[in-house]
Amino acid sequence: MDMVERESWASRAGFILAATGSAIGLGNIWRFPYITAESGGAAFLAVYLLAVIVIGIPAMLVEFTVGRGGKRNVVDVYERIGHGKWKFVGFLGLFTGFWLLSYYSVVGGWVFRYIVGSVTGAYFGDPSAYFGAISTGVDAIAFHLLFMALTVVIVAYGIERGIELATKVMVPAIVLLMIVLAIWASTLPGSAGGYQFYLTPDLNTLTTNFWSILPDAVGQALFSLSLGMGVMITYSSYVARDESLWGDSVSIVFLNTFIGVLAGFVVFPLLFAQNVDPGSPGPGAIFVSMANAFAELPAGQLLGAIFFGVVGIAALSSAISLLEVVVAYFVDNTGYSRPVIAAGAGTAMFLIGVPSAIDTAILGQFDAIAANLLLPLGAFLITLFVGWVYAESAVAELSKGTGEGYNPLDLGWLWHIRTLLLVAVAGTLLVSLLNLLG
Ligand code: PHE
Repeated sequence: MDMVERESWASRAGFILAATGSAIGLGNIWRFPYITAESGGAAFLAVYLLAVIVIGIPAMLVEFTVGRGGKRNVVDVYERIGHGKWKFVGFLGLFTGFWLLSYYSVVGGWVFRYIVGSVTGAYFGDPSAYFGAISTGVDAIAFHLLFMALTVVIVAYGIERGIELATKVMVPAIVLLMIVLAIWASTLPGSAGGYQFYLTPDLNTLTTNFWSILPDAVGQALFSLSLGMGVMITYSSYVARDESLWGDSVSIVFLNTFIGVLAGFVVFPLLFAQNVDPGSPGPGAIFVSMANAFAELPAGQLLGAIFFGVVGIAALSSAISLLEVVVAYFVDNTGYSRPVIAAGAGTAMFLIGVPSAIDTAILGQFDAIAANLLLPLGAFLITLFVGWVYAESAVAELSKGTGEGYNPLDLGWLWHIRTLLLVAVAGTLLVSLLNLLG
């Protein structure tokens, strides 16, 4: 296994951008606004922001200490750092990768379809009927295939020439275009209601629904930061030098949150300006409501194409990280070449995703199980391992690259993940289980 030289990122910025590209995705733009709308707007936003800081940053460091410490794929990394018994957590991560990308790619396909639909104006007549027509069946399967194929091609090129190069272009483009869209949305007459809904927390909603908001916020924080299945273990395993992991994780979490919050500044003013109800739930919500808004606007075809174009790029830069987790394992453990493995795994994921492309209810089930069960379960197990088993070595790994050796903050992190983080993730898991069982 050690005979072939392992790939690595060409630069620290490359690693940060790739991880940020993984984090920013459909979770920020498709999932975040509709979960925010369902859970009471600004009240949810407040709890989510808290969850990102209290849970997101330390949980990302948990994965980084394992990945950079062992420099192996999600399964073999445990053996490499001397705890082979824990490799079942890695297999769970692989399973989650197949599961998640299968339906994520279907939604990514819808986004691609909407880029075309914007340019041709196809959804302008009846946005709901359009979503109904393209979200399932032959159209959905064809665009699911296209999305998966693009993901496979980028991953086939490898770390430096594929993922790093692609995300170096994608992430700045997403940030720039989202800022432009947010500024434009603020100029629309009637957008004020959107800001109020989004930014004025209603203390009543917050206190009466706190226990249902909390697990949703934690689940969304994990999903949005790509935590709980080993994406961050895999990406940090390609870090060659010892830089400050704290610095990296704060940058990634900050950028991801910035784009998520910014997505709200695009979506809510736009919806309120067009009198569209932001609360209609379901995976189609954001497609139907945004299409409704674009159909009413001057230059809606161009603006729609830009909006869905940004979402499509963001979705692709997340999909490649999901595929990379699986590909890295098979590259290390079989004799096949990276392109062959990427194509094989992509084909399997495409097939698993077909039922989701036939019935949106199935897709909704896949998403709920991934975000509320598989990711929190993975995050719980990885944190349990790092907090109580890998403990001292994890602190040692964390203190590398900060220039001053041992640091009291690192010990504070250890106790934080051993207690609060573990309890919060376990609580989320429990509530989700109860909800799923009825
Ligand atoms: N973070 C990605 C998004 O927000 C989704 C994702 C989840 C990617 C888990 C990888 C792992 O769209």
